[in-house]
Amino acid sequence: SPGSKGCQKARDLKAIAVVVDALRASATIVTLLEKGVETIFVVSEVEDAWALKRELPQAMLVGERNNLIIEGFDYSNSPSEIFSASNLKGRLVIFTSTSGARRILACKGATRVFVGTTLNAEALSAVLREESQKHQKDIVIIPAGVYGKEEFSEEDVVASWEIAKRIGFKVIDETGFLTEEVKNRTVEENFYLSKHAKELIELGLEKDVKFCAQVGVAKTIPEVFQFIEKAALVK
Ligand code: MLT
Repeated sequence: SPGSKGCQKARDLKAIAVVVDALRASATIVTLLEKGVETIFVVSEVEDAWALKRELPQAMLVGERNNLIIEGFDYSNSPSEIFSASNLKGRLVIFTSTSGARRILACKGATRVFVGTTLNAEALSAVLREESQKHQKDIVIIPAGVYGKEEFSEEDVVASWEIAKRIGFKVIDETGFLTEEVKNRTVEENFYLSKHAKELIELGLEKDVKFCAQVGVAKTIPEVFQFIEKAALVK
């Protein structure tokens, strides 16, 4: 169930929510945690990030606007850049992005809120299957799309499918995008065909598209463990 409607559905059903922003917020969050980051404070506004930084001066700032690094931030929303970074173990991160971060915050009220993408599809789907059965809860996978727009983003639906098909339950695709043709392509082929991939490649960020299209390479299952005012704490 895509975008803001998906978040609403997850809240209404008190479901298990999975936010999927395949290019690139989900991949950045997964990679930060894979590199040993302790906690990620997800915020929706740049000013909220700076306000939190005043309280947590030791935290690193990571994020983007218009696909580019925010002035004064330590890293962009670039998983390939994060992957090559050193000394992330035990760090606190304050993270904001145009769409993914806001979708995570909008899931407040769901029973549990996970962050997923192709990278952790394998590990995440196993946990989702178990949790759903144990607690008799629906799973709402939310292709994040672009904040403020109603249409979905192709790569988010493709990554959602990579998670959903591995859970093995009945899948209801509210986007109608998952045709046999789409399902028969590789993840990388589908990502490269997406509008957002073309924008990133245009900006010289093809390495992120390639990085984000990997399947099942990460064991990390990011989950919101607390919502505080203006932030979702993820680890
Ligand atoms: C977002 O959260 O809006 C995206 O991850 C944008 C991006 O590719 O940086």
